[in-house]
Amino acid sequence: MQIILGITGGVAAYKSAELARLLANQGNRVRCILTEAGARFITPLTLSSLTGEPCFGANPNQGEWRANPSIEHIELARWADLVVVVPATANILGKAANGLATDLLSTVLLATRAPVLWAPAMNTGMWEHPAVQANIARLRSFGHAVVDPGEGILACGEEGSGKLAEVASIAEAIQAHGTPNLPSLAGRRVLITSGPTREDLDPVRTLTNRSTGAMGIELARAFRDVGAQVLLVLGGDMASPWGVETLRVRSAQEMLEACESRWADSDGLVAAAAVADQRPEQPSSQKVKKVDGAETLALVRTPDILANLSAVRRADQWVLGFAAESENHLEHAATKLKKKGLDAVLVNDIQGVRAFGAQANTLTPVTAQGPQAPIGPLPKDQLARAVVLWWAHQLEARESGR
Ligand SMILES: Cc1cc2nc3c(=O)[nH]c(=O)nc-3n(C[C@H](O)[C@H](O)[C@H](O)COP(=O)(O)O)c2cc1C
Repeated sequence: MQIILGITGGVAAYKSAELARLLANQGNRVRCILTEAGARFITPLTLSSLTGEPCFGANPNQGEWRANPSIEHIELARWADLVVVVPATANILGKAANGLATDLLSTVLLATRAPVLWAPAMNTGMWEHPAVQANIARLRSFGHAVVDPGEGILACGEEGSGKLAEVASIAEAIQAHGTPNLPSLAGRRVLITSGPTREDLDPVRTLTNRSTGAMGIELARAFRDVGAQVLLVLGGDMASPWGVETLRVRSAQEMLEACESRWADSDGLVAAAAVADQRPEQPSSQKVKKVDGAETLALVRTPDILANLSAVRRADQWVLGFAAESENHLEHAATKLKKKGLDAVLVNDIQGVRAFGAQANTLTPVTAQGPQAPIGPLPKDQLARAVVLWWAHQLEARESGR
């Protein structure tokens, strides 16, 4: 991808060097444009050294506009597949929201037809000011995307919102913009469950499992990247990915309720969560004391989320289940497919493999046509992308009646 990285005048400008390096290492071509204020915080030399491309805009030796036979702002505007501004000052947001073109960066922003992504950073008072919020809303209405700032201690010493988003989140948003949409999934609402559930015994003890939620989170990213609107219902402690609406839940019952509240609005379900099958029959509101002799814990079944949602699915909704089996994995997957009325079960043969938390993994799709070619072994991010591609092809084939 060819990326223009605009850098404006805030203390967080030093973080744009890290982002430039990351994007260049991922194989992107990155051209930086510094504003005059941006150049007070970071030098063109740093940025051109990291990207291997010239740095444009304010330059101590050449000034804002170079004597150049080509019309630089138009050439750059056409060259870009994506324009990102990191950090974005209140000033550049205001200029871009109002069509002002007073320097190279603001002119490129006006001239380009490429998607635009903003990562604002500023003092909390500035960020919360109605003028800035109105400018952000206006930019969104142009189709621009925003990586919202986070909360924390700011360079000015204040604590609050306005802190530049993590470089990794910004890079993720850039990756999402660089992935082509898939027609069978773009704009579709996909409900994904992920992570472990926790069933409390008492205020300090809980029944759970070894799932981390990593696979479901990678699936959420992969569906997002091809244009789906993803709602992630997430157990466990992992961070939710950029651009994915997330409902955090604890128990199987909470996960069921969260899913039920959104299932009718969804086009498909990807049930990747490792839901506890049992919960303590009598959770205690006080810490349970140890007693002498043998102890017994009475368990009851938790609701079957997949079966519940599948039972009320409409004909236009699709359902993908996951299974981790240590023996006869294909037979078990075929039984689950039929019993719960699913479109496919992606089964993981966990015999001799640490699927939970493991780096590389293999999934075999089982459909009404029987087991399909295994996908993997691949690291979870690549595996998730391969699963999404496989499913998109299935949907396309289904929609074209093949
Ligand atoms: C030390 C210092 C830090 C600044 N930090 C920010 C900031 O984080 N966010 C912001 O919007 N403006 C910040 N400003 C103000 C901008 O630099 C100023 O509005 C400038 O005109 C922005 O120009 P530009 O948008 O063309 O880069 C800061 C100014 C100074 C002197």
